[in-house]
Amino acid sequence: MSQSRSSSVLVVDFGAQYAQLIARRVREAHVFSEIVQHSISAADVAAKQPGAIIFSGGPKSVYEPGAHDIDPAIYDLGIPILGICYGAQLLARDLGGEVVATGKGEYGRTMLTTASATSLLAKWPAESTVWMSHGDAIASAPVGAVALASCPEAPVAAFADDERRIYGVQFHPEVVHSERGQELIAHFLHDLAGLAPTWTNVSIIESEVEKIRAQIGDQKALCALSGGVDSAVAAAMVTKAIGTQLTCVFVDTGLMRSNEGEQIEATFREQFGVDLVHVRAADRYFEALKGVTDPEAKRKIIGELFIRIFEEVARDLGAGGEGPKFLVQGTLYPDVIESGSGHAANIKSHHNVGGLPEDLDFELCEPLRSLFKDEVRAIGEELGLPESLVWRQPFPGPGLGVRIIGEVTPERAEILRNADAVVIDEIKKAGLYRELWQSFAVMPAVRTVGVMGDGRTYAYPIVIRAVTSDDAMTADWARLPYDLIETIANRLINEVDGVNRVALDVTSKPPGTIEWE
Ligand code: XMP
Repeated sequence: MSQSRSSSVLVVDFGAQYAQLIARRVREAHVFSEIVQHSISAADVAAKQPGAIIFSGGPKSVYEPGAHDIDPAIYDLGIPILGICYGAQLLARDLGGEVVATGKGEYGRTMLTTASATSLLAKWPAESTVWMSHGDAIASAPVGAVALASCPEAPVAAFADDERRIYGVQFHPEVVHSERGQELIAHFLHDLAGLAPTWTNVSIIESEVEKIRAQIGDQKALCALSGGVDSAVAAAMVTKAIGTQLTCVFVDTGLMRSNEGEQIEATFREQFGVDLVHVRAADRYFEALKGVTDPEAKRKIIGELFIRIFEEVARDLGAGGEGPKFLVQGTLYPDVIESGSGHAANIKSHHNVGGLPEDLDFELCEPLRSLFKDEVRAIGEELGLPESLVWRQPFPGPGLGVRIIGEVTPERAEILRNADAVVIDEIKKAGLYRELWQSFAVMPAVRTVGVMGDGRTYAYPIVIRAVTSDDAMTADWARLPYDLIETIANRLINEVDGVNRVALDVTSKPPGTIEWE
């Protein structure tokens, strides 16, 4: 970002899942953060000129062979450092303190006793609850540092060296179960490291708009809207930057959620005045999907047809010649970290609607590349996107196509779309929509016998799928209240033609996946 580097924080990732959460917490304290790997050299750190460094937790013992180390020259750069858990132990090990294997770790909520409510723990109460997850413990703080607090199995649970500005906590302040955890992070950043809280929605938008203008100049850009949050926010941001130089393309595959096309029209064409190409391609999709039941084949057909249609529109608009040279994409920071660090990819590789033609040779414009999902939502609201779009649950690229098991026909798509709208409506009325990662209807490839009034019915069952999750890597089936399930079931059977039975999916991921195909 074009924020001055000295006002940003480097979060050094020691290999656990904590780094992203820490980076988000830093941003909640209105300071920009960037995640780097522990193998980073002191020279690379110095080049980035961070205003502070945070060492994350990690899964190992600092004494284990192959334990992750840090270039010790980083300690001599004079940059304030906060070590968390493994990071704190590393500071103790490297700077003259002592880390021991006690044989008794602490996991979960633990009582912290403050010995000195100063420095990092300024104004802390005598006792507070913190979240712990450690095997080894710090027995003595680094040379020059003062021990500030302890836990039953952690003699030094917090330490501070105000002169060198080196701090450590054995507990996890980034986790909500640590009382005052966020306060501690903000205190370290603002008061001890002297970083100004300038990272706000408004400042993010301003700096991104500037960058987009510098990149695109007076050229034209193209953006594929999927109905999802990321592409919508990216398009809104680029519209703010370059106005009508941006053209948006929305391909209605016939497999979208209820009202998706209308909402895109209302928001982008009417509210933002965007040049919107709305391609009504349902017939082409249903034709291509006729008789196809294999899940992978369906995904492939849907993905390839999207690329073909997008290419047609792009060529019509003169791409590759006088037309758009830039392609706007809603890539988020977690995707960038995943691909950059060599970690396993977060999401299984999908034949994604949104995978785009290579031979048109666009230059990418990715205004959300340094942002987390929650920041993207906040910025979307700041840019004036409707709440119902900004808070929309994730939706797979192939749309209802992977929720209609077996053959995708216009009739079955219509039944499922209507059923999905009922599920969403009731989930929203129950106030659960934002809390759930996803909640939707699935249509199996069977029909079942029922009885309604005096007659026998032979129609489709609908499966309710609702999950909680943080990142879609793992998910738990949501324990929806029985009354809510009953209301949904009644409405599905009474209001949606073609449905005569309702079931609930109680599979977690793993072993299941969130989608059925
Ligand atoms: P699964 O079913 O693999 O889904 O547990 C994980 C998350 O990814 C979404 N999903 C997709 N997203 N293109 C996408 O952009 C796709 O092809 C696709 N398939 C699944 C799914 O909705 C869930 O949030």
